[in-house]
Amino acid sequence: MKKIVVLTGAGISAESGLKTFRDSDGLWEGYNIEEVATPEAWRRNPELVQEFYNMRRKSVLEASPNAAHYALAELEKKYDVTIITQNIDDLHERGGSDNVIHLHGIITRSQSSKNPNITYPIEGWELKMGEKCELGSQLRAHVVWFGEAVPMIEEAARVCGQADIFILVGSSLAVYPAAGLIHYVPYDVPKYIIDPNIPYISSDDFIRIEAKATAGVPPLVAKLLKE
Ligand code: APR
Repeated sequence: MKKIVVLTGAGISAESGLKTFRDSDGLWEGYNIEEVATPEAWRRNPELVQEFYNMRRKSVLEASPNAAHYALAELEKKYDVTIITQNIDDLHERGGSDNVIHLHGIITRSQSSKNPNITYPIEGWELKMGEKCELGSQLRAHVVWFGEAVPMIEEAARVCGQADIFILVGSSLAVYPAAGLIHYVPYDVPKYIIDPNIPYISSDDFIRIEAKATAGVPPLVAKLLKE
């Protein structure tokens, strides 16, 4: 079975109603991302950070997968597929994909603020101050903040190295180490990029599909299922 590796970013969930980061001047729903997505922000004002992620979680739970998420799941009929996503939503899983690596964590789980390896599922949308892990420390969202390690990056790089076909959907490639993953894909495999506003990409062998995810992904999947 051929291996397809798909790297996704915020753009794939835009048509599910979840805002991207860099299409809105670096502000996200009025917040400067550094004010809420860093360890310093958590030390300075944990209530604000908790509230911010509670709102994000609520939006995620209210959103549904779109045609692009569903189409990528269809690829599993014929291919060994791994999705590597920078997104903290669970729309790939709800769209039916079985093999998803969350580089930046997943908002539907909580994490110990002492040990990032201790995580729990969250019931509903709200994580409250005072809810603690088994070590007695406050629970926070299971997401990777700016300045924190990206524990899944090595596994993601290894998987990219196994790709027979590579697809990139809806990422500005502005954030490392995720953006560097494209360089682990073998040079001679077909590589596709789907984005309505294709970012600068430091590799010139991508097949460019300038379209929104729901318009660009399903036809590509249909073509790959016929090959
Ligand atoms: N379909 C496909 N792509 C789209 C769509 C759409 N409907 N709408 C916008 N895009 C594209 C934009 O053109 C842009 O290239 O999606 C990309 C979104 O880029 P970013 O907002 O920078 O999102 P992303 O690349 O996922 O950000 C990476 O940055 O803030 C951190 O941790 C956060 O995981 C995130 C990381």
